[in-house]
Amino acid sequence: MKLWAGRFQKETDTLVNDFNSSIGFDVRLYRQDIAGSIAHARMLGEAGIIEAGEAEKIVEGLKTILADIEADRVEFSLDNEDIHMNIEALLTARIGDSGKRLHTGRSRNDQVALDTRLYVKEEIPSIIGLVLELEQVLVKKAKAHLDTVMPGYTHMQRAQPTTFAHHMMAYANMFKRDVTRLEDCLARLDECPLGAGALAASTYGVDRFMTARELGFSKPTDNSMDSVSDRDYAIELLSALSILMMHLSRFSEEIILWCSWEFKFVDLDDAYSTGSSIMPQKKNPDVAELVRGKTGRVYGDLLTLLTVMKALPLAYNKDMQEDKEALFDAIDTVELCLPVFAAMLDTLTVLPKNMSRAAAGGFINATDCADYLTKKGLPFREAYMIVGRLVNLCAKTGDTLDTLTLKDFRAISGLFDEDVYDALALKTCVNQRKVYGGPAREAVERQIALIEEFTAQRAQ
Ligand code: ARG
Repeated sequence: MKLWAGRFQKETDTLVNDFNSSIGFDVRLYRQDIAGSIAHARMLGEAGIIEAGEAEKIVEGLKTILADIEADRVEFSLDNEDIHMNIEALLTARIGDSGKRLHTGRSRNDQVALDTRLYVKEEIPSIIGLVLELEQVLVKKAKAHLDTVMPGYTHMQRAQPTTFAHHMMAYANMFKRDVTRLEDCLARLDECPLGAGALAASTYGVDRFMTARELGFSKPTDNSMDSVSDRDYAIELLSALSILMMHLSRFSEEIILWCSWEFKFVDLDDAYSTGSSIMPQKKNPDVAELVRGKTGRVYGDLLTLLTVMKALPLAYNKDMQEDKEALFDAIDTVELCLPVFAAMLDTLTVLPKNMSRAAAGGFINATDCADYLTKKGLPFREAYMIVGRLVNLCAKTGDTLDTLTLKDFRAISGLFDEDVYDALALKTCVNQRKVYGGPAREAVERQIALIEEFTAQRAQ
């Protein structure tokens, strides 16, 4: 018999029973559900709403249920719909009538709001931990490649020289923002909805401050209607995770390009790449491709949640049961992608010769050539025109700027001297870019120090 059977004269149709039930996926909230119930029971006892002895029995009963679930000794039933009613039914079966007092002054609506919040509150720090591990790999790679010159691109055209370290630190900064976004989300969700009841709290005088404290929240939520109808924290988390996946996906795309024969900037470790069933020569960047692909999944989860919540009137509506699979899927996907991506990055080999060969072509020192003339007094726009003519000349002769003769240079501007060759050397081009945030060794070392400080603060 259903917990709510009193008002009904017929059994629920089996189709509806299956359709309505969420135990298949909300079973993963059993720990949070039991923790919430223990705090609630203790509070009921403490506040004198139920007898202290009964509260004690409930708490003990819940503890044995927890132990049995962890030992895989519990069977959940579809008839009991969700994790909340399953646990309540188990409790009453075990301890008798005292179990029936647990639901005093609460509803499944505040219960599910609490359970998902508690779940998210636990998952965010572990995701942050995984991002910080990736940061460490980035720092390690950057330190090893402070002088590894590579072409920087705009419009996928070789643009200006940079280093592999500078490129890695660009991603390190993106992931740093991801961490702070996750921290913001965690700080905002730190309010306990328990005691909000179905929507309008209750008449029992439950102590919401006590349960909030017991469950590790800073305070109870301020409005009971909002408490049971709010899923902002899940949407915020999925937004943050979507942005994080977007970063991983851009990075994956670059790794995939860098692995191609057209670039060959990096070589993936054999343990982190896969072969083809038909083409014996293939070594495929499957990990990066899957991370790129799974990004779509996480975006989909965010869209699911936004769409489920759109136009829902206050307060709780059953539509909201649809939040969980998307939420869990996004969290699982991110937790799956981060470690394998970090390990792939950690084990990849950088091929500096190929990078510098690519950097030598494509006139990525053209801006530096214009800067050379500017520093000799020419206005930048005129310098720009002159270098444009030099590039045009090179295009005809098959030269690059540094293979032109001084005579060629001087034919276009008398300001050129022997020192132009040094100014055009890629190492010089990079190392002159000492500006805060730039690719010069010392500037990148500062960037590394900032990321190291950021991760160290969070390791404590
Ligand atoms: N399984 C439900 C959910 O996930 C729990 C809340 C049910 N509340 C209700 N009034 N039917 O949303």
